[in-house]
Amino acid sequence: MNYRVEVFTGIRPTRDLTIANYLGAVKPVVKLQNQGFSTMVFVADLHALTDNEPSLVKKYIPEIVADYIAFGLDPSKTKIYLQSDLVSEISVFTLLLSRQINVAELLRVPTLKDKLKKKDQPETANVLLFLYPVMMAADILLNRAQKIPVGEDQIPHLEMVRELGRRFNKKYGNILPLPEVLQIKSYRILSLKGEGKMSKTNPQGAIFLTDDLKIISRKVKMAETAFEGVMNEKLESHILIAKELAKTEKERQEIEFLVKEHKAKKRVMKRFKELFNQIIQDFLKEFQIKRKKIIQNPSYISRVLKEGALIAKKNAQETLEGVRRVFEA
Ligand code: TRP
Repeated sequence: MNYRVEVFTGIRPTRDLTIANYLGAVKPVVKLQNQGFSTMVFVADLHALTDNEPSLVKKYIPEIVADYIAFGLDPSKTKIYLQSDLVSEISVFTLLLSRQINVAELLRVPTLKDKLKKKDQPETANVLLFLYPVMMAADILLNRAQKIPVGEDQIPHLEMVRELGRRFNKKYGNILPLPEVLQIKSYRILSLKGEGKMSKTNPQGAIFLTDDLKIISRKVKMAETAFEGVMNEKLESHILIAKELAKTEKERQEIEFLVKEHKAKKRVMKRFKELFNQIIQDFLKEFQIKRKKIIQNPSYISRVLKEGALIAKKNAQETLEGVRRVFEA
């Protein structure tokens, strides 16, 4: 029996995840897992090779698995596998799918267009970058995944995946189920210091998951808020983070209360920042303890990946068998 994948997604192993990465990409999957969906996630190490050296990518694989599990993905419910454990299946399917699309169509993919725009000589971009959405199609279609939760930036990729599946089916018969896009509400998580989105390019305004807790306290203390009675994007983003990470109803109620007081021109920002800091500290403390335990247990990590790969490989081989049959017919 193959494993039915209802919810499926991948994350590239790159370093320095921030709280924004967690809220945008992992938390929604944890929620779906806990609602009882059959979930599968993978570490997209082949995709990470588009802009990183293999040795670096390899180094971050166990870290991202530890992140996933420490965030609440439970390997007994969510299968976790490493993309390169399926390298032969993915390679052959990427090649077969590449026949269904032309260069001009790939050049219209917005993420690729943006990347090329930034280059002085676009022609020198590496070819793996072009294949990015085709390889995504291989990941998804091989597992016959049903729902793909993604942020807004990945929607064009998913449209390409569906189009590739549709063309394949039209030519060769209905053998690839088309995945459904599950658009995740995108959070606007801004830098604490108000210089655009929270990202690792502005480290002073970013809360990294592995930051020392004292450093985080300092960053939160320096966070910009707003004058009494004034709401701005920055403060809204802080409130959102606080609400999303709060562990108790009492904390959430206090946030609501403080927001109301602030809007009524009361001076409550000092208390808000204390609470904001406390919530982040509590969340990250628990996360970091769990993560450390997992990192210190590499045999557990390999066991999780091995079990995940076994299932994903079975799915992939079954799909490829169906594909091969049409080609031999
Ligand atoms: N493109 C995703 C990212 O950049 C990673 C990814 C690769 C993915 N293959 C996928 C996501 C398949 C969802 C489904 O983060």
